[in-house]
Amino acid sequence: MNRHLLGKLKPALNALPTNLRLSLETILENNFKGFFSTEQVLYLKAAVGDAMDEQTLLLTLIPIVAAYSTPTISNLKVGAIAIGESGNWFFGANLEFKHLPLHHSVHAEQSAISNAWLAGEDGIKTIVVNYTPCGHCRQFINELTTAKSLELILANDNGLFTDFLPCSFGPSDLSISDNLMSKQEHELWTIESGLLVDHAIEAARKSYAPYTQSYAGVAIKFRGGAIYVGRYAENAAFNPSLSPMQMACSQAVLAGEVLSDISDAVLVEAKNGVIRQQESAAAVLKAVCNAKLRYVLV
Ligand code: THU
Ligand code: ZN
Repeated sequence: MNRHLLGKLKPALNALPTNLRLSLETILENNFKGFFSTEQVLYLKAAVGDAMDEQTLLLTLIPIVAAYSTPTISNLKVGAIAIGESGNWFFGANLEFKHLPLHHSVHAEQSAISNAWLAGEDGIKTIVVNYTPCGHCRQFINELTTAKSLELILANDNGLFTDFLPCSFGPSDLSISDNLMSKQEHELWTIESGLLVDHAIEAARKSYAPYTQSYAGVAIKFRGGAIYVGRYAENAAFNPSLSPMQMACSQAVLAGEVLSDISDAVLVEAKNGVIRQQESAAAVLKAVCNAKLRYVLV
């Protein structure tokens, strides 16, 4: 864990019961990248023993997740854990961009869901969050493969997601039978080469854009050498869609990176799509670092 991340997490870590804190620190110091594997979940459950059931453990860990938040405008630290179909627990935190229109913000729930999707999950069983999910997030969640069975765990309320969004509008209203987190493999090719382009095109192939066919992916590289990707995640209600640049930035923050350390960035998008990410992605990048966006239409 780098010093920057340790500084952010320290107060939340110190507030945990000792056994849990020690076990968690062991995990965090071991190349932690923003989620607990099922083995690590068992290790944390063993640390608390009978003192906490699973729901209590999840809610106890939420302040740690919320510490990853970057609320440069609102000062509101939102943390979410998405439990994938595999049983892995994925972190998510809200991310705000100073000087940009508010619609670029990433909500904690979106951050946790994209974290799970990028790790190869194909559905979410449960979402835990420290504030009541806003309408925008409910709409985003409604796009998921598992929207009908998903459980929400809130600080003082829980239940089936569908009870939190009655009379919903979704993909079927636009005659789309696909869902977010279903396997995507779009045929996209380019003669451009290079490690970052390869990562970005792979993200674009796996992106979800059933309403525009504007498949898009971003790869960002940091001064320390690490690379993170984001895939475009479209939404039936259009506005809650998550751009590939927002998703890549969220992933990097969950891995403990500082966005001003981005040294290179590539956006790949499908030329046959009906919308373009280029200007929006460049605006987000410009707001956080000095690197210039490289752009590849495929
Ligand atoms: N926020 C979330 O992350 N999730 C919600 O569902 C509620 C709102 C964030 C978005 C923004 O960064 C801040 O809280 C204020 O709305
Ligand atoms: Zn929200």
